[in-house]
Amino acid sequence: MKKRVAVLISGRGSNMTALIEAAKAKDYPAEIVVVVSNRPDAAGLGRAQQAGIATALIDHTAFGKDREAFERALDAQLQARQIDIVCLAGFMRLLTPWFVERWSGRMINIHPALLPQFKGLDTHRRVLEAGVEEHGATVHFVSAGMDEGPVILQKSVPVLGSDSEATLAARVLEVEHQIYPQALRMVAEGRARLP
Ligand code: GRF
Repeated sequence: MKKRVAVLISGRGSNMTALIEAAKAKDYPAEIVVVVSNRPDAAGLGRAQQAGIATALIDHTAFGKDREAFERALDAQLQARQIDIVCLAGFMRLLTPWFVERWSGRMINIHPALLPQFKGLDTHRRVLEAGVEEHGATVHFVSAGMDEGPVILQKSVPVLGSDSEATLAARVLEVEHQIYPQALRMVAEGRARLP
């Protein structure tokens, strides 16, 4: 039985697309059942529809400041589709402890840096400013703190002297698209789990 996966997005959805592509393989242990966006203008919604995947829009602005009300609507969507695993893929909402706890061990995220270094936004710019020689991407279980939680997979890329934010981002994105499907496979097969 394949694990039933929901991918949560807010934007272009290139990691979402990588997961959809990987899940086409017969022996892949997970199927992408639904893509959920909190933003109506997320380009990934159209890409998911083109790929024949069900989509849902849960616009967080409709819930004002009530984060939990938004998350209850999201959770209802996930329950209705009998989701086993949630993949955050460029999902730009902080989640409350209630939601994180509810999906503990069953929710993973991709971050464009070698965690625990460079949590948060603008990682490529900050990496260039810091002058480090190595950068990369991380897939991790989601826990209460932002960009925290046990690492499932990481892959590094070199930072070149000639790099701009854009060239570095593109190099990192390429490895994101490699490790996210690999990490989801590990979770779906029970080879990666919370201690
Ligand atoms: C990726 O760099 C991801 O690591 C970060 O947000 C970006 C989303 O890009 N969390 P995309 O929507 O998957 O193309």
